[in-house]
Amino acid sequence: MPIFEIDGKLWLLETKHQAYAIGFTEKGFLVNTYWGERLDNIRNYPLPRDHFASDSFDSEFETLPEEFPVLNGMKFVEPCLITRFFDGTRDLELDFEKFELDPQANFLRIYLSDSVYHFRVVLNFRVYEHEDIIEKWIEIENMDGVNDAIVKRIFSGNFCLGGEHDYRIIHTWGKWFNEMNISDDSLIHGKVVLESRRLTTSHHHNPSVIFYPNKICESHGEAYAISLGWSGNWKLVAEKNSLEKTRVTVGINDWDFELVLKPQQTFQTPPIYFSWTDQGIRAISHTFHNFIQSHLLPHPNKPRKVLYNSWEATFFNVNLVEQKKLAEMAAGVGVELFVVDDGWFHGRNSDQAGLGDWWPDAKKFPNGLQPLSDFVHQLGMDFGLWIEPEMVNPDSNLYRLHPDWVLHFDKRKQTLARNQCILNMAIPGVQEYLFEKIASLIEDNDIQFIKWDMNRNVSEPGWDREDGGSSCEIWVRYVEGVYSLWQRLAMAFPRVLWQTCSGGGGRIDTGIFRYADQAWLSDNTDPLKRIFIQEGYSLFYPALTMESWVTESGYENTPLDFRFLVSMSGVLGIGSNLLHWSDTEMKIAKKWIHVYKEHREIIQFGRQYRLISPRESEVSAIAYQNDDCSKGVLFVYNRKMESESQTVIIYPLMLERNKVYQFDGLENRQSGADWMQNGVPLVLSGFSALFVPYNML
Ligand code: DGJ
Repeated sequence: MPIFEIDGKLWLLETKHQAYAIGFTEKGFLVNTYWGERLDNIRNYPLPRDHFASDSFDSEFETLPEEFPVLNGMKFVEPCLITRFFDGTRDLELDFEKFELDPQANFLRIYLSDSVYHFRVVLNFRVYEHEDIIEKWIEIENMDGVNDAIVKRIFSGNFCLGGEHDYRIIHTWGKWFNEMNISDDSLIHGKVVLESRRLTTSHHHNPSVIFYPNKICESHGEAYAISLGWSGNWKLVAEKNSLEKTRVTVGINDWDFELVLKPQQTFQTPPIYFSWTDQGIRAISHTFHNFIQSHLLPHPNKPRKVLYNSWEATFFNVNLVEQKKLAEMAAGVGVELFVVDDGWFHGRNSDQAGLGDWWPDAKKFPNGLQPLSDFVHQLGMDFGLWIEPEMVNPDSNLYRLHPDWVLHFDKRKQTLARNQCILNMAIPGVQEYLFEKIASLIEDNDIQFIKWDMNRNVSEPGWDREDGGSSCEIWVRYVEGVYSLWQRLAMAFPRVLWQTCSGGGGRIDTGIFRYADQAWLSDNTDPLKRIFIQEGYSLFYPALTMESWVTESGYENTPLDFRFLVSMSGVLGIGSNLLHWSDTEMKIAKKWIHVYKEHREIIQFGRQYRLISPRESEVSAIAYQNDDCSKGVLFVYNRKMESESQTVIIYPLMLERNKVYQFDGLENRQSGADWMQNGVPLVLSGFSALFVPYNML
């Protein structure tokens, strides 16, 4: 059983390999006594212990591994919850109230409450035993019948990393056009803060991070992984205090945040998914890839189609005649999904106008989109469309009708970015308008795929609330608005697949993957850069979600084969203008699309192995292998300029030792042990790439 309860005081949460234990100390504090390897015997887990103040400056809370520290008493660690009550008290004293355990659902709830201010905190835990993931989140409730409670901060949780190690943190950072760079840094005495204040997850830091105490590599080493399932402002604080204790708190960013809980109102935080391993970074990646696929994605088992996207081919210059020609060319090389990007809707000829007016532009599509959609379907492809629902150009019918629908402060000038404003997704009328418009588009045009974009960060985050609530709730209510619109659309159109995009990788997290099936990682499609972006992405997010297009970007250095092989390591797409491709290029495209289709099951649903990182060598390699290890594919990329051929040896660490394998193009039939020991010799010239399928015999 994954959750054990002992005397109503101690709870043990176990997955296949990890365990997480919490319990009350004698003094009544709820502490996290253990997070690490699952032990053989329940008796071996440490029991809750009280701590004591070391001097009059440091109370016991500096070392006590509290499960959910709140602002109270003499406490200087980061609190997860900061409240202000009607009489000005800014202190919360929580006592145990009760717990509920649902063994069928592997679900535990621990209720704590402040009896003076009638405020309740419920800690929720769900265990995914076979997936090695535990999920936790918080609910708060103002049980006072009369007074409001002000919440200045409500994080989803806290982690106390064991021992007194010098922990390090691995996370991805970047900016637009340069997302998902992997960094590996030590935690200093003091705090490391990662966050987004941009309304979305942001290109800058990703809220899925790994902590580790000693050494780590792909296949060895202890690691603690934490991922926040939230697509708005977020904050992660990792603190190593002067008493050598390391804690991590994470949740919705408290920057400019305030929540007013009216009497009897509740609030639920986004979830944190976490996992421990001693098998290195690859094990964390495999755990999250599997979990995201099996528990978050709306269409977990649907093979992703080879797509064509018009953006880099035509930009805003979309019209029926040319799109039809492109569709014909795309179908001819084997594309399965044709996606019309930005530029198709009313008044959209550049980024100056049109956003908000979600109906086909009459000049470009005199009879609407249906003729194009029909044409695409007749060619045997699915039809997809780009939208940017949350945005509006001042030059649009929507803005002229509802200028009050955008985020703004009445007496401040609006800052435009890409000539657009942000609709306030917290307003029900906005959601209603968007639902109606998007639903008609899908219905009228038989759409199978939607790319949901979001192309600016926030400014003037004002909100004239009619109910008198705090406008600082916008950070939360906006994201809830996006989720709720998406959810409603997903329920109305269960067969549509969705892509998350925010100018590339600005909204990628374990929150959005409950709605989106795949992601656009970056507007940078140069394969030499993409190799790095895709590696960073793969730390947590699966190849099944990783859309990657072949474009003209990087063509000076990288031949078309190379560009295909980079894109084929995820969900393959083409973004080039096919009308400009030569017969030879079309033949190359046809060949690789055919090969991709033959092997996509392994790439999209198999396990990924980062064999040689592009950060370590100019020759990098990744592999995908099916679960029973009988089939796999190897991608090898050479970023060296020299044109002479060289032999590189790739060590395929994932084979079954006692089985015999053959790699395409090599005559030898050797045992897995042999290949793993002596490597696979492959010949590569400068700026070239190889695709090598292999089989167990
Ligand atoms: C940003 C996206 O990342 C691009 O792929 C494209 O859809 C443009 N927006 C369109 O405006």
